[in-house]
Amino acid sequence: MTANSATVKVGDKSVDLPVKAGSIGPSVIDIGKLYAQTGMFTFDPGFTSTASTESQITYIDGDEGVLLYRGYPIEQLAEHGDFLETCYLLLYGELPTASQKADFVYRVTRHTMVHEQMARFFQGFRRDAHPMSVMVASVGALAAFYHDSTDISDENQRMVASMRMIAKMPTLAAMAFKYSIGQPFVFPKNDLDYAANFLHMCFAVPCEEYKVNPVLARALDRIFILHADHEQNASTSTVRLAGSSGANPFACIAAGIACLWGPAHGGANEAALKMLGEIGTVDNIPKYIAKAKDKNDPFRLMGFGHRVYKNYDPRAKIMQKTTHDVLNELGVKDDPLLDVALELERIALHDDYFIEKKLYPNIDFYSGITLKAMGFPTSMFTVLFAVARTVGWIAQWKEMIEDPSQKIGRPRQLYTGAPRRDYLPSTNR
Ligand code: CMC
Repeated sequence: MTANSATVKVGDKSVDLPVKAGSIGPSVIDIGKLYAQTGMFTFDPGFTSTASTESQITYIDGDEGVLLYRGYPIEQLAEHGDFLETCYLLLYGELPTASQKADFVYRVTRHTMVHEQMARFFQGFRRDAHPMSVMVASVGALAAFYHDSTDISDENQRMVASMRMIAKMPTLAAMAFKYSIGQPFVFPKNDLDYAANFLHMCFAVPCEEYKVNPVLARALDRIFILHADHEQNASTSTVRLAGSSGANPFACIAAGIACLWGPAHGGANEAALKMLGEIGTVDNIPKYIAKAKDKNDPFRLMGFGHRVYKNYDPRAKIMQKTTHDVLNELGVKDDPLLDVALELERIALHDDYFIEKKLYPNIDFYSGITLKAMGFPTSMFTVLFAVARTVGWIAQWKEMIEDPSQKIGRPRQLYTGAPRRDYLPSTNR
């Protein structure tokens, strides 16, 4: 039995606060009236004990290593489902029937092209621009191209904006890639499925036929499923906060992409692969393990640890298998990076420091190796994460906008700066 109220004692005053229970997972103490009743705020930088919202989309049990999308275990969706079906599930709450799925795939597929003027917009970037900067800008710019889907109070416009972003994100990501390597943009091919179309737009060239490898397309589709949502992580919270002011959906998703870019979040797959390259050989691993443990050294093992998972990240397990599928298919027998990765994983899983702090490999540890083997440069890794996470961001944004009790997100602070003081002319300072 969980309690239905909690008592907070402030000095000699006691305040009863309601406790709310979810369907699974920890209950929460509703502190909405705490300030009115006590004159105090709560203090939780990094939100380690704070639920920022109610949500019915994704559930994580970090201690048990469980990840559910709308109740379905990630393992089952990755094994039996596909990405667009997962998108439907996240957006609408149920797996689609065959006809609902066909209709959804049709709707997404009909939005894959981008306005031709977008191609010119790309020409303004330097060729060596990081593709994530191009993504932040081009997704934000969609609002300038699709005026007919920026009114968030119109349900139909919200739906069209959602379809547009799910459909156009791979096109924009492939354009960012092609631009960076000086190749012409490849138009989407609507007879290919979502992941295969993306591979085609990235790796086809106009002068010869490109046949998509179905094993790689399936692996990429699985990578997209694994990254599709992850409840209230930093970028999703950013999307919700941006959306809470009523900003248009394209601007909100651009904000999410900007947040995802950081190395502590989506940028970790790029950082993990760079780190494996820096370690170079298995002999160097002990030196890097020692650096990771040294309190005075800022070095961290990238791809290890997670704010929520204090157990093996369930996505990392599936990703590890996908990595092997891709390397086998491509005939990569002796990849030195993979040797370093596997040995690093073995050592870290047996090392007291990592065991005590519950630092397990996370999804980014393996995704980098897989994406590199597929032919993507490291700078594209976080872009692929953004392509996959777009549906999660949209589902969360949509859930928030459709919640009648929604209000602008406005955290408070503990002020530790100077108290009130008077202005002095510069000659008297
Ligand atoms: N290597 C070495 N030590 C670590 C690491 C690591 N990767 N991660 C955490 N620690 C230590 C940290 O120094 C701290 O030690 P102490 O208690 O002695 O001060 C302890 O473990 C707890 O770390 P924390 O920073 O308080 O934990 P957090 O929940 O704030 O950080 C994290 C989570 C993911 C930011 C962190 O583990 C990290 O920086 N990992 C490397 C980056 C990475 O792989 N990020 C991808 C996350 S998964 C993809 C996604 O969801 O975006």
